[in-house]
Amino acid sequence: MDIIAVYPGSFDPITLGHLDIVERSRGLFSKVIIAVLRNPQKNALFSLEERVEITEEVCRIYPEVEVQSFDGLLVDFAEQTGARGIIRGLRAPTDFEYELQMALMNRRLNEQVETLFMVPRETHTFVSSSLVKEIASLGGSVEGLVPPLVEKRLREKLAS
Ligand code: PNS
Repeated sequence: MDIIAVYPGSFDPITLGHLDIVERSRGLFSKVIIAVLRNPQKNALFSLEERVEITEEVCRIYPEVEVQSFDGLLVDFAEQTGARGIIRGLRAPTDFEYELQMALMNRRLNEQVETLFMVPRETHTFVSSSLVKEIASLGGSVEGLVPPLVEKRLREKLAS
């Protein structure tokens, strides 16, 4: 059976923690659509176009992974793309409260779309886009936290 899943987020920028989830999920679904949120509540460093372009570039090696942007309700986007599952990464117990609330709300909005939680490699459990941006903006090294392309794009962005 062809099962499509969406992996939504702000991806500002994509980290090795995100990529770990992408790698794990691509073996389970016929297609994984990375869904980049148009207007994250948090102030985005990269524009939507940049976040999509960087994510596409980093995931080019995975033929079953595609990148799309979305706005509006996630469950509506999932339905439009024919996705049956929403993938979310759980790094720590502190993620769980918010994620559970979202999963239950999304189920209330659309019973047909199932939320699936995946756990990244333990060495990535402390990685977040927000911390990566903070460290990079203060001149720290983000090597090993993001793909080399993202390191480069962060340097360029923060120098401009
Ligand atoms: O990477 P993030 O910022 O944690 O991702 C949050 C995201 C994109 C999953 C969430 O903000 C979202 O789904 N936004 C779309 C709007 C929506 O459907 N809201 C209702 C959620 S219950």
